[in-house]
Amino acid sequence: MSEQEPRRVAGRESNAAVVSAYEDHMMPIWKSLDIPVKRASGCTLEDVEGNEYLDVFAGIAVTNVGHGNEAVVDAAKDQLEEFVHGCSYVHPNEPVADLAERIADVTPGDLEKTFFCNSGTEAVEGAVKLARKYTGSKEVISLEMGFHGRTLGSLALTGNKSYKQGMAPTLNDVAHTAPPYGYRCPRCEGGECNSGCADELERVIGSHTSGDLAAIVVEPVMGEAGIVVPPEGWLERVQEIAHDHGALLIADEVQTGYGRTGELFASSHFDVEPDILTQAKGIANGLPLGAFTATAEIADAFESGDHLSTFGGNPVACAAALATIDELQDGIVDDAREQGQWLADELGALEAEYDVVGQTRGLGLMWGVELVDPETTGPQNVSPAPDSDLAAAVSDYLRDESNVVMGVGGYYKNVMRFQPPLTISRDQLQYAVDELRAALETVA
Ligand SMILES: Cc1ncc(COP(=O)(O)O)c(C=O)c1O
Repeated sequence: MSEQEPRRVAGRESNAAVVSAYEDHMMPIWKSLDIPVKRASGCTLEDVEGNEYLDVFAGIAVTNVGHGNEAVVDAAKDQLEEFVHGCSYVHPNEPVADLAERIADVTPGDLEKTFFCNSGTEAVEGAVKLARKYTGSKEVISLEMGFHGRTLGSLALTGNKSYKQGMAPTLNDVAHTAPPYGYRCPRCEGGECNSGCADELERVIGSHTSGDLAAIVVEPVMGEAGIVVPPEGWLERVQEIAHDHGALLIADEVQTGYGRTGELFASSHFDVEPDILTQAKGIANGLPLGAFTATAEIADAFESGDHLSTFGGNPVACAAALATIDELQDGIVDDAREQGQWLADELGALEAEYDVVGQTRGLGLMWGVELVDPETTGPQNVSPAPDSDLAAAVSDYLRDESNVVMGVGGYYKNVMRFQPPLTISRDQLQYAVDELRAALETVA
């Protein structure tokens, strides 16, 4: 550091100055929304120049109990003053112990023991290691179009070629099976999913693996694929097939967990008990924390030295997670469920009104609006073609004309994503829907 100027983070006066520092010194990995955030509260983001935006994306579905949630901030501050790091696996400490106990309490089924890491991709990779250790088997199956992270193990599970180009080789012995994406599924008649894709799993096991299966890894609701909700019975059938083949069911709840779908965990919408459940994103409302939780029998397959993370289970993040769960259980998840039902009707009305809205789907406050070109047929002659240009234009309109931050995602980059903080008010949601309608009216 030079003697003259203490280094500050708050010295830039324009949005452009922040963006230009990014261009010069950050790796160019993703197109950002170009809204440099200076502060955030509830569902509002404020940029460096003082402009305010309604955030219906929550930093990719993370700040579930609202930006700057007071209880979470206070819990983190209190813990910061106690101690920040001692490595949770070297020095047992209370925030970690309390959170592990709490997770055992709130997760579905008999999930008992947790490993803490720092991100979703680490949680997925750790879960696969544990499944291999427990089953003594090697191969893993995940879903085409699914997303599980970008490090080389979870990248192999991610069923999307665009993330893999130039990155091979990734983890070996991974096969992919059909996703329950009824709207774009060549197996389903009339666009309604008939669950044939669950049986496709049997075929993939038979023809693409040696049968030495450790796990089937699935998102109970697929996030990055474009908010794909499986039909009734699908997840149950997948679990049955996994167990028939001696494999574990790993529910990747990195995106769906912590209230996002109107249940604390999306697996609870279905009649399944995952063997291992991964978590990250919403767990600590934005502080970096990931986790995977397993039944005691499975977890005890790990022996000392099998796995570790220096920062994993940081006590500040764990204290924030405990406060987050308190907040979620204090009515926020119930509200999300109710708001989601209202949103379903509103988005359904958009689908009926506009040809360019191919399908709307979701659960709780995890909703996707799939934009299409109604004049052109999509891949494999199923449904109208995805329109990613329209989605990009709608996103720009919302940012520039409405001051609304809405995500764009989907396997074909054509799905508008409603994944706001779960604390969003009805008026704020109404505004976002109205502005989406205005955007479609203007841009489409
Ligand atoms: C279902 C799922 N799993 C894993 C990940 C990876 O999480 P992270 O970006 O924290 O590594 C994501 C991120 O979007 C996700 O949605």
